[in-house]
Amino acid sequence: MWWMRNPILVALDVPTMDQALALVHELAPVVGGFKIGSELFTAAGPEIVRMVRATGSTVFLDLKFHDIPNTVARAVAAAVRLDVQMLTVHASGGFSMMQAAEDSAQRTASLTGRNAPLVLGVTVLTSLDGPALAEVGCDDHVGRQVERLATLAVRAGLRGLVCSPLEVAGLRQILPSRIKLVTPGIRPEGQDPSDQRRTLTPQEALAAGADWMVIGRPITGASNPRKMAEAIWAALQT
Ligand code: C5P
Repeated sequence: MWWMRNPILVALDVPTMDQALALVHELAPVVGGFKIGSELFTAAGPEIVRMVRATGSTVFLDLKFHDIPNTVARAVAAAVRLDVQMLTVHASGGFSMMQAAEDSAQRTASLTGRNAPLVLGVTVLTSLDGPALAEVGCDDHVGRQVERLATLAVRAGLRGLVCSPLEVAGLRQILPSRIKLVTPGIRPEGQDPSDQRRTLTPQEALAAGADWMVIGRPITGASNPRKMAEAIWAALQT
């Protein structure tokens, strides 16, 4: 599939700007983009987003906004001004919050002459199982809660979702095909799953219907991160 866009987003789960930029410079030519999460953003601030964008790389800002609609809308507007291509909000923040997030992404993008970033809904954190969900007042089965929040996110106008690799195939069946699915929990064949419990290989995730895959330690912890990223990308194209 030589025409395929590189779907690999490398999770920059490192504590300093220097470590993040070293990875970005090594990997930018061979991956599809980078995910900046709470640790790096809190340590290095918005400047890290500007620096990664300055390399021409796609940025996925994974701060999982969850607040009243007005506050989330303003945070999304700030992210659009930083020129990120993807960002996350918690679907459990509700219909109006997600609608406000999407609206703000569209409006701010058109005001600034940019493409609107993909606002991705996060359904149920994979760290939560049935009993943990019950503790926060949701007695439904985890799978049903994921489907409920995914459907709500789409009704609110979101154009993408983050989901666990094992949810991709099921969600593909119930969601419109235009909805983009981004999945972490990816482990190349034969690799240590570390703390990830439910994983798929990059090829399996793609076959199940993922549009993007977030890969952290298998690449960033490899003895040669660039070679590892190249090998994963090559395998995806066969
Ligand atoms: O190192 P690893 O490949 O496990 O990194 C996966 C990345 O995706 C991390 O940044 C992690 O926080 C994130 N993530 C995850 N599982 C989820 C949601 C996000 O591993 N359910």
